[in-house]
Amino acid sequence: MEMIEFEHPIARDFVTRLRRKNTPPVQFRAYASRLAYLLAVEATRDLSTVPAKIETPLEDTLGEVLVDPPIIVPILRAGLGMLEAFQDLLPDSQVAFIGMTRDEKTAEPVWHYSSLPNVAGRKVIVLDPMLATGGTAAAVMEYLFEKKASDVILVSVIAAPEGIARLGVFDNLRVITVCVDRELDSNWYIRPGLGDFGDRLYSDGI
Ligand code: URA
Repeated sequence: MEMIEFEHPIARDFVTRLRRKNTPPVQFRAYASRLAYLLAVEATRDLSTVPAKIETPLEDTLGEVLVDPPIIVPILRAGLGMLEAFQDLLPDSQVAFIGMTRDEKTAEPVWHYSSLPNVAGRKVIVLDPMLATGGTAAAVMEYLFEKKASDVILVSVIAAPEGIARLGVFDNLRVITVCVDRELDSNWYIRPGLGDFGDRLYSDGI
């Protein structure tokens, strides 16, 4: 596993806006989406292009077009807050959804829904903004690599050391995050964190 802490002042500023408890859902959604554009640029820097002949208004020339667009997989619900940005930058990508919740007693993931296509030989970008215990992310990685995905990028906003450590066993995985926070608390929330990302997006935000 390769870990990238995305270093950018605007990204750190946006995470701070997301962390503030008084940021209402309408603004939280806007900040999450704008931050996701920055992260999408980082997550896609190694994609391949092929030359393409084009005509400008003045002459023929060679451009470049993306090939083999990755499959985008937001983990429900929180990952939805980053989806639009990734789709905007990767308009030809397939999108598949995985729905998981965390068993509140054990913190282990429970699968509810998956619409994954054949991922064999494909690049996959997984959107999971809060990498906490890593239980959900590890279950998703096990599934994707068992189905022979070629490589996976997990895009998060805040990660806990525990979650990063749990993903250390996977090859062909790159984890991108903006901040590595201090720890998980006894309810498996990231501290200092920003609370529940899904609630902050879609609920009253507290
Ligand atoms: N998921 C969240 O939304 N927040 C946390 O702190 C941990 C997991």
